[in-house]
Amino acid sequence: MSGHPGARAFFVGSDHAGISLRRAVVAHLEAAGHVVGEFGPGDGERSDYPDAAREVALAVRRAAPADRAGGILICGTGIGMSIAANKVTGIRAALVHDPVTARLAAEHNDARVLCLGARLLAEDYALGLVDVWLAASFETRHQGRLDKVADLESAAHIGDISRSGAELIER
Ligand code: RB5
Repeated sequence: MSGHPGARAFFVGSDHAGISLRRAVVAHLEAAGHVVGEFGPGDGERSDYPDAAREVALAVRRAAPADRAGGILICGTGIGMSIAANKVTGIRAALVHDPVTARLAAEHNDARVLCLGARLLAEDYALGLVDVWLAASFETRHQGRLDKVADLESAAHIGDISRSGAELIER
């Protein structure tokens, strides 16, 4: 990987609602010396958020954990991107709105994909959230919870339900 010694690889994607912020995020990361891959429509084009979510999530999954690659996904609210990216096995995508959730997404959830709502956040504020997320590190005391999250991806859980849940349904 080129760039400075702390350079990392990032994949940044958006739908049409996030084009402008996507470009700002790409420029921001490149200015910091990171290597950036960009996915999403160009000016005047429209695209559905699952398309970029798929590309970015798969790229992050392919790259991780060797170089701690990260992804940033941007749509109007960030909601669609977070829903879609979290469907990709092994991906933890976090929708954040403020510095606290941006920091905790890394510290508690080890979220390698950050989701942002372009229609809700001012550009400078959103770039600040990216910086907060990048500066934060995962706290390993939360690993057991991530293991349980990963366990939910197992097909063995489909149809599985706790006794209390079953009792509620039977009522
Ligand atoms: C597109 O209009 C909008 O629905 C999308 O960007 C996103 O906000 C969905 O969650």
